[in-house]
Amino acid sequence: MDDPCADMARASYWNHYNPVRIIAGAGAINHIGLCMEQFFPAPDPSETGKQKHTGTILLLTSKGFTRRGAVDRLCGIIVSARPWVHMEIHDSVQPNPDMRDMESLTHKYKGHTISGIIAMGGGSVLDTGKVLSVLLPHIVANSEYAGLEDILCQGKKPHFFKKIPLIAIPTTAGTGAEVTPFATIWDALRHKKYSLSDNLVFPCHALSDPELTLSLPEEETVNTGLDALSHALESLWNINRTPLSEALAWQALYLGVKALPAVLEQPESIDKRAQMTHAALLSGLAISQTKTALAHSISYPLTSRFNIPHGLACSFTLAEMIRLSVKEKVFPVHYSALLKELIFLLESLGLKNRIGKYASFKDILNENEAMHTPERADNCIIKPDLIRLLKQSLNI
Ligand SMILES: [Fe+2]
Repeated sequence: MDDPCADMARASYWNHYNPVRIIAGAGAINHIGLCMEQFFPAPDPSETGKQKHTGTILLLTSKGFTRRGAVDRLCGIIVSARPWVHMEIHDSVQPNPDMRDMESLTHKYKGHTISGIIAMGGGSVLDTGKVLSVLLPHIVANSEYAGLEDILCQGKKPHFFKKIPLIAIPTTAGTGAEVTPFATIWDALRHKKYSLSDNLVFPCHALSDPELTLSLPEEETVNTGLDALSHALESLWNINRTPLSEALAWQALYLGVKALPAVLEQPESIDKRAQMTHAALLSGLAISQTKTALAHSISYPLTSRFNIPHGLACSFTLAEMIRLSVKEKVFPVHYSALLKELIFLLESLGLKNRIGKYASFKDILNENEAMHTPERADNCIIKPDLIRLLKQSLNI
């Protein structure tokens, strides 16, 4: 593709919809009061003494954030912004949340008057917040509700008509879940992954604060960073790509390819963490329009069967996919240097060795039939032979 302008400003119809208000940058969390308007409007001074709210804010997070004091800090900021609010804290969200856990959590809170949900954590916490924000009103209003399992396994698209406002606060730089309309739900018993997708699943607000990623251990920094790179690439070789999603994705790649190695070298640098957080946010915005594609489709059985971290499972095939996309002239030539830099980064991170700690290559290959989920894999404009792609990626 020699003329990038011809591709990036296509004349054909496209649309872009993302309703998430984003507050980003170091210290963004201190501005959560800006998001609270929607939950509890500031009281009218002339109405002193009247009841100012009837509900509760549900804070979802994981134990580590309570232990490290982040929950106390967040509650302190919220209470100083809205001193009259009542906070309910659930800090037991597990990684890769199972549909049954989501179900029991929903039933636990269905009798409460939840006015707003705050989800602070990695992708699993954010996805749990998304599910609750649409499922709680759905259950309350729908007497025929037969369970989340019924919705997901039967492929029934529920008619969500209302949501509880959700503030998403990512603590990793990778998933982009703070700005997407999808939530991943796992069925640990059947080793399956489901996606709840609806415009109401978009959070209302995203607080993208790189300070929250400073404590992220190296392995998680790598895995979540890889997820962000994967999102950018998957939105580029995607049949749903638009000029705007492409602009977001290229900028994400440009930032991410520099930021990821820099963060690994200087994990305490807020500037480097901010660049990586920004790359993840842009990637999330790109896939919020396109969804992901083949590399993600390949990843799901590997995470489900062998517990391979999501970012690693969806990135070990990327270098080969980039080579293929260059060969097939999918991208404008002026991105060649950036793509070479990406291949170099992916190879230098030793993904093959990392993935080998979780499963034998033979076991990975044996999952090939489960790797083709049409709603993801069919988004991909490149159609490689899957076995060949896996073998080349694993050097076997
Ligand atoms: Fe992902």
